[in-house]
Amino acid sequence: MKNPFRPEPTSYAGARALVTGGCSGLGLELTRLLVADGAEVLVVDQHPEAPDGVLPEGVIYRQLDVRSDEQWDETCHWVESTWGVLDLLINNAGVAAGGRIDVLSMDDWKWIIDINLLGVVRGCRTFVPLMKEAGSGHIVNTASLAGLVHAPSMSSYNAVKAGVVAVSETLRHELAAWHIDVSVICPSFFRTNLAQSLQGKDVEMEATAVDLINKAPRSAEQVARTAYAGMRARRFIILTDADGRIAYRGKRYLQPVYERAMIASGKRIAAGRPATPAGLERLQHLAARRKK
Ligand SMILES: NC(=O)c1ccc[n+]([C@@H]2O[C@H](COP(=O)([O-])OP(=O)(O)OC[C@H]3O[C@@H](n4cnc5c(N)ncnc54)[C@H](O)[C@@H]3O)[C@@H](O)[C@H]2O)c1
Repeated sequence: MKNPFRPEPTSYAGARALVTGGCSGLGLELTRLLVADGAEVLVVDQHPEAPDGVLPEGVIYRQLDVRSDEQWDETCHWVESTWGVLDLLINNAGVAAGGRIDVLSMDDWKWIIDINLLGVVRGCRTFVPLMKEAGSGHIVNTASLAGLVHAPSMSSYNAVKAGVVAVSETLRHELAAWHIDVSVICPSFFRTNLAQSLQGKDVEMEATAVDLINKAPRSAEQVARTAYAGMRARRFIILTDADGRIAYRGKRYLQPVYERAMIASGKRIAAGRPATPAGLERLQHLAARRKK
């Protein structure tokens, strides 16, 4: 018998899809997978022109800084007049930040809220009316594992990504009546150009973030492949790696151990020792022992 909680993977062949931040990293890899599946893809990014030779053939490019209401309106106008509908919206554009609460400036906070949280909100606000009219659609927001488990010295990034998870859950329930699905991708660190966006006041913590991104064991291609399978299955929270699954399940089912691991991570940072991704090693150790 068909399990109603595990829908068959849906193909995106023929779908009209918009990917924000699609010129690099995860957005670019998702674009490649969509094109290979036969979707029509509009990539938007902050550059006036797409970087030479980066986008797959047939992909349309437009400049859209996710902070600009005007550029969102122009993009919506393009989609309405060219395609008439939007089947898939991937709100993926984002920047990185790391920083202790007493070192981060208010400008650091405002910058990341405007891009990573309000950029997603603007995308949803812009295209939900079109999807409601069509009575279908899929919104995929790129959050982060940081949206689910909140490691020390990353308060601004954690807060905006948790905000993306909250908006996604809200819309999943709010838009179900129009048959609009919502998914949220929550990866741990993976190798992309993301570290180049770091520009906050906490230089020391940002150096750690650079290492965690550039030396991550996963590539954007690997993360995209897992995320794409989750999207096709219309999963809500899409965890893309073992670190994420351990940390998220640890928080839900082993709260005291999670708590101790995070406090230990905070103390290590306070003592000037390197942070580990989400203070995970204690949870990993526990998970490994359980497997034996
Ligand atoms: N790399 C990681 O370790 C990691 C982990 C978890 C979540 N993420 C999230 O994945 C998403 C993609 O990041 P990535 O790692 O592929 O990084 P990336 O830097 O390779 O790609 C991000 C893209 O977003 C674009 N962008 C940045 N600011 C923008 C703006 N204001 N308007 C429009 N486009 C803008 C950039 O130009 C770039 O093309 C981000 O939301 C990021 O927070 C990344």
